[in-house]
Amino acid sequence: MCGIVGYIGPRDAAGVIVDSLRRLEYRGYDSAGLAVWDAGSLNVRREEGKLAGLEKLLVDSPVSGHLGIGHTRWATHGPPSQRNAHPHSSPDGELVVVQNGIVENFQELRRELLADGYIFNSDTDTEVIAHLVHKHYHNGSGRDLVTAVRHAVEELTGPSAIAVLSRTEPERMVVVRLGNAGGVVIGQGDDEMFVASDIPALLQYTRRVRFLENRQMAVISRGGVEVTDLAGLPLELPLVEIAWDADAAEKGQFRHFMHKEIYDQPQAIAQTLSQRVDFVNNRVELPGLNLSPEAARNLRKLTIVACGTSYYSGLVGRYVIERLARLSVEVDYASEYRYRHPVIGPDEMVLAITQSGETVDTLAALEEAREQGAFTAAIVNAMGSQAARVCDGVIYMHAGPEIGVASTKAFTTSLVDLVLLGFYLGQCRGTIDAAAAAELVQGLAGLPGQVGAVLEDAHLTGRYTELAQRYGHFHNFLYLGRGVNYPTAREGALKLKEISYIHAEGYPAGEMKHGPIALIDSTMPTVVVVPQDSVYEKMISQVEQVKARSGAVLAVAHADDAFISEKADELLPIPRSHDLLSPVLAVVPLQLLAYEIAVGRGADVDQPRNLAKSVTVE
Ligand code: AGP
Repeated sequence: MCGIVGYIGPRDAAGVIVDSLRRLEYRGYDSAGLAVWDAGSLNVRREEGKLAGLEKLLVDSPVSGHLGIGHTRWATHGPPSQRNAHPHSSPDGELVVVQNGIVENFQELRRELLADGYIFNSDTDTEVIAHLVHKHYHNGSGRDLVTAVRHAVEELTGPSAIAVLSRTEPERMVVVRLGNAGGVVIGQGDDEMFVASDIPALLQYTRRVRFLENRQMAVISRGGVEVTDLAGLPLELPLVEIAWDADAAEKGQFRHFMHKEIYDQPQAIAQTLSQRVDFVNNRVELPGLNLSPEAARNLRKLTIVACGTSYYSGLVGRYVIERLARLSVEVDYASEYRYRHPVIGPDEMVLAITQSGETVDTLAALEEAREQGAFTAAIVNAMGSQAARVCDGVIYMHAGPEIGVASTKAFTTSLVDLVLLGFYLGQCRGTIDAAAAAELVQGLAGLPGQVGAVLEDAHLTGRYTELAQRYGHFHNFLYLGRGVNYPTAREGALKLKEISYIHAEGYPAGEMKHGPIALIDSTMPTVVVVPQDSVYEKMISQVEQVKARSGAVLAVAHADDAFISEKADELLPIPRSHDLLSPVLAVVPLQLLAYEIAVGRGADVDQPRNLAKSVTVE
């Protein structure tokens, strides 16, 4: 996913821009560039590849100035190349533009602009914006940048976040947000202002931010920002203090963000629990959900919509919430839900699970639900994200910034949020008795420490590094789970395939005899999630079947389960817990296994090929 940044203030703009772009690298990109205003010129530097290439170019051909914009490009229209890298310029370099998103009608606009005599120098849709602003700047806007941009964006269709500079207006930049192309965060400094696609890019400079919303325009100068809608009506955006600090978005002593975020999980889960669980009276409160006990009692159905890892979290949520609240739960891929004309009844709640809060399919599914009158809520990590703003209620993950493309702490904290939601609904609907409440609260209290114990075992034994050495060369894996850990198996498979590029499939263990067992032989290891819960015996029979066909078995199981230790080829130990909390514990070995195998294979763990941290375009 692309990233945009901007700066105006007393510092060297190029240095701020490159530093900010570096903190957006996790989004995935294939080229980078910037433009800086200097003595009446907009000096552009662009390079294919990673930021190091742009930095080298800046050493060879430096720019200086105090106003600039920058961009990391994740190619959509036109291959990764220097000519397709942003910023893109209008004729004679009078205007420069960076964009995150897509101009869906760019072919039509390109034809019109070609007919007007414009010459295109790239294959991108973004270049259309530069020429369109130029056209309006010189025809009918009185050479006013703000007016020209306003007229230009009215012709665009598709989600976009855009920043524009003019050679003749060195004291301001214009930023526009159209639809859900990922966020636009405006940072407030002292006599300086910042713009970025995401919070981590700004944290080293300021923690005071505003979130630009859909169809809003910001005119940013050193003294501050003026926000309007696209008709020019002034708007007031709240100034938010971000609790995260810059270190939280840094790797620290870890080699990869993903590894740091796996080890962040005990603290992240403790943060998720804090201020919500009354450990004395065994109660849960979720004030941000905005769902009264009466409304909770009247609910007839809950539908969960999400993508990827968040979808697997939702699958766990079905087991948890149906058990705790006796409420019917349906889980659907957001990308399917948004197009299947879902039947949404009265007294239905539609819950999105989304780390970024900007996933285009998930936002579209929420829009569908809102249009049909459902109560909408989001379990979300990114503060101020679109999902957090459009829903009737929000349950934050409080995981802190998750930079690695492969989601880890967002998954486990979303699972905890789902337990809290199920607990709260059950509390309101009278479906949790005192003993069950006490047992679950006790389980929650011990969860951060238990996750920490799994991580400490990994660190002290080096178990997962050894497993990676023994199994990292295989080309196919099968992951099996049952009941509340069937989704855990699917999430484990996704972790492996998305960072190591090894094919892996997650399956409900009961499905083995309906097909997958045909795959089993000595070339296909099987990972099983087999805590001693109500389906343990069923899982053991699956383990036997795999072993009988010479398949290696790696078992995520209770550390003191002597039987499975004997049966399986490898033990990935977890502590005993409340069975609804076991996915939080069981997924950690699967995260570590995937991480160590990917590192062993020399993969780009934090920025796996072809993937983006947040999928904001279809
Ligand atoms: C998971 O490791 C992937 N990064 C991906 O599947 C991700 O979970 C999915 O794109 C949904 O993202 P979201 O939670 O930000 O909506």
